[in-house]
Amino acid sequence: MAQFPVARMRRLRATENTRRLVRETRLSVDDFIYPLFVVEGSGVRREIGAMPGNFHWSVDRLPAVIDEAAALGVPGVLLFGIPDAKDEEGSEAYAEDGIAQKAVRAIKRANPDMLVVTDVCLCEYTSHGHCGVVTPEGRLLNDPTLALLQRTALSHARAGADIVAPSDMMDGRVGALRAALDEQGFDQVPIMAYAAKYASGFYGPFREAAGSAPQFGDRRSYQMDPANRREALREMALDADEGADILMVKPALSYLDIIREARDRFDLPLAAYNVSGEYSMVKAAAANRWIDGERIMMEILTSIKRAGADMILTYHALEAARLLEH
Ligand code: PBG
Repeated sequence: MAQFPVARMRRLRATENTRRLVRETRLSVDDFIYPLFVVEGSGVRREIGAMPGNFHWSVDRLPAVIDEAAALGVPGVLLFGIPDAKDEEGSEAYAEDGIAQKAVRAIKRANPDMLVVTDVCLCEYTSHGHCGVVTPEGRLLNDPTLALLQRTALSHARAGADIVAPSDMMDGRVGALRAALDEQGFDQVPIMAYAAKYASGFYGPFREAAGSAPQFGDRRSYQMDPANRREALREMALDADEGADILMVKPALSYLDIIREARDRFDLPLAAYNVSGEYSMVKAAAANRWIDGERIMMEILTSIKRAGADMILTYHALEAARLLEH
């Protein structure tokens, strides 16, 4: 390859037209899934303190935000239900008229084309805030949790969910969900597996948004150690073997290396979750005028795509889609 002075990298950076021609990564509204938090009640559109621009929605207000997302071309939403009542077993997670199930039905009624992905987990529904069945000593039991996750995913599918996304990090849950869905005639419902999900401080604002902070201990006995890379690849290989249709890495920004390795190693579609803390940091710094919020948002989303993600779950979805329209 030519060396300087024959090679001059700046030649192709000289104008926006040359930059457009050699641009390697393009963000598109096609890449986005927009997370939504749904609460009981009516007429609720309450901004989430640490996530300005994102809201708690009651079911009756959902059609409006779905119309807005659809008008911008956003292909899908990810639903989180926040119940009024929590109990030890998280029974609202799999109630036929639970908050998530009602939200799915309302969205599909309002806009059958909007792709509805549901987060399958128990932590928003359990009184202890852990993602499954907990013993009196506070240990989280893996296999008994699988049955509750199966019930949850099935209730979402019956309500009309297009994709189910288990985020609990129990072992064997992708296989368990696949078997349960297939047996009940939902063999066409894909599983988006939160495959490499780290025990991350970046979920802080989400726990405020979803009221799902663990009441004791932490999630390190089921979510991954941020220090580990090979383990993430094993998690993803296992989920792929168990029948996952889409693999996810979460969070995104501190884990771009994992996204890249996953892209190189697996042929499954790859999702990255640009999580709540990543969003809040941008919003907080922008509000202080320490950074240019829009510019940083686009740079971050582009970097996640460049690392190899096919789709990005992001609270920036509507804002970024609006910018991409121009
Ligand atoms: C539920 C779940 C969490 C997130 C998505 N699903 C919280 C957690 O695992 O503690 C975090 C999303 C975000 O921070 O934006 N298990």
